[in-house]
Parts: sequence; C-alpha cells; structure tokens
Amino acid sequence: MTKSKRVAVLPGDGIGVDVLREAVRLLEAIDKKRPLSLDLWHLDLGADRYLRDKTTLPKETFEEVRDTCGAILLGALGDPRVPGLEHARDILFGFRFGLELYANVRTVKCLHDKLCPLKAKPASAVNFTVFRENTEGVYVGVGGQVRKGTPDEIAINEDINTRKGVERILRAAFDFAKEHGKTRVHMADKSNAMKHAHELWYRAFFELAKEYPGIEARHVYVDALCLYMIQEPENLQVIVTNNLFGDIVTDLGAALQGGLGMAPSGNINWARRGPALFEPVHGSAPPLAGKDLANPFASALTVGMMLDYLGYAGIESAIEDSVRDCVVAEECTRDVGGSLGTRASMDKLIARVSDRL
Ligand SMILES: NC(=O)c1ccc[n+]([C@@H]2O[C@H](COP(=O)([O-])OP(=O)(O)OC[C@H]3O[C@@H](n4cnc5c(N)ncnc54)[C@H](O)[C@@H]3O)[C@@H](O)[C@H]2O)c1
Repeated sequence: MTKSKRVAVLPGDGIGVDVLREAVRLLEAIDKKRPLSLDLWHLDLGADRYLRDKTTLPKETFEEVRDTCGAILLGALGDPRVPGLEHARDILFGFRFGLELYANVRTVKCLHDKLCPLKAKPASAVNFTVFRENTEGVYVGVGGQVRKGTPDEIAINEDINTRKGVERILRAAFDFAKEHGKTRVHMADKSNAMKHAHELWYRAFFELAKEYPGIEARHVYVDALCLYMIQEPENLQVIVTNNLFGDIVTDLGAALQGGLGMAPSGNINWARRGPALFEPVHGSAPPLAGKDLANPFASALTVGMMLDYLGYAGIESAIEDSVRDCVVAEECTRDVGGSLGTRASMDKLIARVSDRL
C-alpha cells in the first residue's frame, strides 16, 4: 500500500527543537537532489504550548495525524518547567497507544571503530536491531499506592502482558528477521523470576518460531543479555523483549554505537504499517538546549529510517555512510569526537549526503 507523503513534524522540547530544525534542513536538501514530494505539517505541541494554554495533544490533531499522515517525526519531550511531564506523557503515549505503535524498533549499529567503546571489538561487531514492546508492561500504569507516606506504605505497578500484545511483537521481530535475511532472533525475558507473565513470552516465542523454520529462536534472560551485548555482540542479530527491558537494553545499545547522539528509532504498527512515529532515542537534554551543542546525527539517522519506511530506497544508506564519513573526518559534535556545533555538523552532513544522491 502506498503511504501518505504527509509528515507531522513535532520538535517538542529542549534539544528536540535543535535537532529537528536540522532534520528538516536535511529533508529539504535531499528533496533538492531526489524530489520527495513530502508535505511537512509542523505541529505546535510541547512544553511551550502546554504552559501557554494547557494544550497537550488535541483530539482533532491526533485524528488528523491518524487519518492523513504517513509518519510523525518527533524531536524529544521533557521540560523542567513541567516537572510532572503531563504534556510529554499525553503526546508520546497518546500517539504510541492511540495509533497502537506496538513495535519500538531500535537500530543498534556502530558506524566506526572510533565510536565503539568495546576495547577488543571492531565496530562491525555491533549491528543488531531491538524490537521493544511499546504498548504494554509496566508502562500501562496499572497499580496504586496505599497508606502513602506511612511506614506501612505499599506501592504496586502491574506488569501487563496479553497474548495478543506479546504475539504481535514477537511476530514483528520474526518478520523483520525474515525480510532482512537474518538467521537468529533472541527473546529476552526474566521467566525464571516472573513465572506468570514471562512464561507467556517464553511459550509464545517458541510456538511462533515454528512458523519461521529458517530462523533460530534463542531464549535469553535479560541479565545475561546485558552481558552478551558487551562480551559477544557479534552473535546478536534481532532482539525482542518487553517494554521495560527494551527501554533499558536500548540505552546500553546506544552506548555501544557511540552514545545517545547516534541512536535512531521508529515506533511502528507492524501489521498496519502506518502512520508510524520516528524519533531519536535521546531525550530533550535541557542543559544542552538552544546552545548549538546537541548532536544532530541521531535525528539524521532517524530521517533515514523514516524515508525507508515511506518507501524511498537508497537514502537511508546514503545518510548512514555520510554520518560515518563525518565522524571519521571529525566533522561532528564533541560527544562523538569533533568540535563543531549542531548546525555546522549538519552542514557537513548535508554536503556529503547531497554528493551521494
Ligand atoms: N522520547 C522522548 O522524548 C524522551 C526520551 C528520553 C528522555 N526524555 C526526557 O528528556 C529529559 C531529559 O532526560 P535525560 O537527561 O534522562 O536524557 P537525555 O537523553 O535527554 O540526556 C542524557 C544524556 O545524554 C546526552 N545527550 C542526549 N542526547 C544528546 C545529543 N543529541 N547530543 C549530545 N548529547 C546528548 C545529554 O547531555 C545527557 O548527558 C527528561 O525530561 C526526560 O523525561 C524524553
């Protein structure tokens, strides 16, 4: 099915604004070389808007995005002026849950040895994709507190796992493996301790694996996965796990690829495949905001992921190769070994991407 070329652009807060400004410049530069015919729809949502008129995610905006857009490109949400993060929760969870973007897909690929923190491994050892369940688990918010503030206080957060929810993220991981010529999928849980919820993951994983005969299904406890990610990342191709574990292991993954400034992600409804939400893995980093310090490469790689999703072939790899070249030439921000600011780094990247297209 052809996807809509309308893209909702939502910079959000902090460095989200800085990096999305650059991401849009990259899109405009690509469009000059390879016409994309995208219709960019800039959404005025985030902490500023919330503080101005208490708007988070209006129902009409959500519905228009749902009905007319092929993708959402998001910067980051989170602002110290809104300590309760009400706007961030409404917007992020509004899209994730409302559009049933159940597959949070995070590419963990280290682009150059300079970025690899593992002393005995080359960058090529770090190249896998994490499928994090994005709509269930402890993030559903089921729970409560009783006798709050007393010595007898009880605090509970329930871990919600449904057969449907577990099965669809497992299927997305297997389908991705099959489509991309991968031969192995690791499923990470804690079924030795969480006997009820994660036994469901374990059982569903091996049942589903029978439908994918060419793909080896390996179970791993999440604590052991953290060890393998450092000791033998070359054995990992596709990892699928629940919402909470996925959140944690993908930050470890970001460290393996050179830091949060280098990590892209997509939030996808794998069955319907649209609209999907793309965002750099990092947050709004308030101390860096507005200072021309944020690394724009995670958002550039996110643009590549989004364009691939929208059906534009060859651009994602041109961006990835150009990011690698920029890092090697030290035409990048300080967090990845350069001395340039946000804008100048993107200028260099745009020049390289334009040469490649
Ligand atoms: N999806 C999202 O929008 C999202 C994700 C994570 C955190 N947040 C929010 O962001 C705010 C800050 O959270 P945090 O500090 O825990 O995480 P963060 O990702 O904003 O920052 C963590 C660290 O990484 C560095 N960093 C992050 N992105 C960078 C970049 N592009 N270039 C250079 N350095 C970069 C920061 O300086 C900081 O040291 C909070 O309000 C949090 O809730 C939002």
